[in-house]
Formats: sequence, structure tokens, C-alpha cells
Amino acid sequence: DWTMAAFREEAIGRIREQVGTGRVICGLSGGVDSAVAAVLIHEAIGEQLTCVFVDHGLLRQGEAEEVVGLFRDHYNIPLVHVRAEETFLKALEGVTDPEAKRKTIGRLFIETFEAEAKKIGGAEFLAQGTLYPDVIESVSFTGGPSVTIKSHHNVGGLPERMNMKLVEPLRELFKDEVRALGRELGLPDAFVGRHPFPGPGLAIRCPGEITREKLEILRKADAVYLDEIRRAGLYDQIWQAFAVLLPVRTVGVMGDGRTYDYVCALRAVTSVDGMTADFFPFDMAFLGRAANRIVNEVKGINRVTYDVTSKPPGTIEWE
Ligand code: XMP
Repeated sequence: DWTMAAFREEAIGRIREQVGTGRVICGLSGGVDSAVAAVLIHEAIGEQLTCVFVDHGLLRQGEAEEVVGLFRDHYNIPLVHVRAEETFLKALEGVTDPEAKRKTIGRLFIETFEAEAKKIGGAEFLAQGTLYPDVIESVSFTGGPSVTIKSHHNVGGLPERMNMKLVEPLRELFKDEVRALGRELGLPDAFVGRHPFPGPGLAIRCPGEITREKLEILRKADAVYLDEIRRAGLYDQIWQAFAVLLPVRTVGVMGDGRTYDYVCALRAVTSVDGMTADFFPFDMAFLGRAANRIVNEVKGINRVTYDVTSKPPGTIEWE
């Protein structure tokens, strides 16, 4: 891609100019954006970059292994894998308000990063895979007074607190451009095509209080749903698809017994940049299959619904 080849060269030059001989720390989220930012920055400044992957216990099934494998083995980029599940889940106990969840997670990210930065003898720069839509959505919402819809933790807060300068090489790009850049940088297709995943992870797909038990149920349902989507060949037509575990139990019947288990909501949307979205028009046979498998294979769920709300007025995530 001609444009992305040019962008790559230009961005590398800008990163070198900004960073000089300083040290950069970069948080990997498991998503495409932070991965592309990291690979680009590594190309620009090599060993001056340290990547940190914080496993907050709110990741999807197999996600930590995939990210760590890609960076350590495929790219040979030094990566610190922080296992912080205990800390995050403890701090989230009893937290039910969506913004309070984001703030708690954001604060712990900062503390984890501060600790890791200290271990490498300090870092002057913090790299983030912030995209153009992140910049806009976090700042204001057009058509009214400046209101924060959702505080995206990868934009505000971090650098001021940490007294670090930001390196954000993707700030002008939209998602499709980041994917093109990722391909240009040689990231595997499967990784570049991954659906976006929010920094607060499964915490915002588990309305109400988060418990280990609920996270485990959610992870399984999500994995079954995505497996069905892949089998049907629909993954690449969808911007984002995921399961949400509702804090509601309903009555069901299984064999000759009565069940009283959680409800799972399935979400799938098409979008170009995440700012607006339409629900994905699955056929009913697909939905029936996915629901059947989830109820049969995931203990703790006895009912499945499909979310047919577009954005606006709904948001993509449920919190
Ligand atoms: P919403 O739910 O606001 O989501 O329609 C738009 C896009 O942003 C992602 N998202 C987040 N990403 N931190 C992130 O890094 C967050 O707190 C956050 N909240 C939403 C969401 O997955 C979707 O792609």
C-alpha cells in the first residue's frame, strides 16, 4: 500500500525525533491498535522500547497467550507480562457503576505501569495506540455541551499522573488505516483482522458486580459465540461481536429439572470507525445454533438474547 508505506516512513522519523535517546514504555492491550503502535515504535527506536502487557484477569479465553506469543516469539520484542488478576479483581469487588469500573481499572493500570517503569529505571515516554475516533469521543460529543460519553482510559489521565510524555503515532488514523499499516508492518492477517477489544475488557461486558464465576461463564459463552461466527465465515464482515453476561437469572427447563441461571446477550455490529454502528443481521438459523450451543455447553446460562440496537442510540458495549 503506497500511502501506508509513506506513512510508515514518516511516522518512524517523527518518533525518532520526539524520543531521541529516551526510554519508551508501551502498554499492549491485546488489540490491533496497541500492537501496531508497538511494532512501529520498535522499528523506530528498537531496544529503547519496553512493552508491558497487563493481564488484569478481564481478558478473553486464550488472549494472554496469543499476545505474549506474538510479541515474544514472532517479533522478538521484549515484553513484560504482568499477572495482575488478583489486584484488579479485588479492587473491583462491589463496583457496579460503569464509570467507576473504568476509573478503578484506569487507576490500577497507572499503578502497574508506574511499578514497571520503575523496574526498568524509569521511562520518559508513554506510548499509546490512540486513534482519531478515541480522541474525538473522549473529548466531547457534538451537538450539545461537552459531555464525556465514556472515559476511554487510553486517552486521559495516565500521562499527567505519571509525568510522562505521550507517544501516539496513530492519532490521526482510523481503524481501517491502522489495519492497513499493520499489514504493511507484517503483522499476521489473523491479528490485524481482530475485532477491537476495550481496555477495561470483560468488566464492561458483565453489567453489575464482577465475580470470577461470572467472568468464567462469560469467557466460555464468548468463545462459543465467536467459534460459531468463524465457522459461518462471518468474522470479517463484523466490526465487533461479543457476549455480555446479564446480572439476571431466569427460569428454564433442562431434562426433567428446572434451572435458574444467567441470561447471555449476544452483540454483533458493523461499523467503519466505532462512532456509529448497525446491528449485524444474522439469519435466525445462525442465532438459533449459537444460542443452542451456549445453553448446552456453558454451565450457568439458560437463556440467550440478541441485541438489535444500533449506535446511536445504543453504544456498542453495554457499559
Ligand atoms: P462504545 O461502547 O462507546 O464503543 O460505542 C466504541 C468503541 O470503543 C470501544 N470502547 C473502549 N475502548 N476503553 C477502550 O480502550 C474503553 O473504556 C472503551 N469503551 C468502549 C468499544 O469496544 C468499541 O470498539
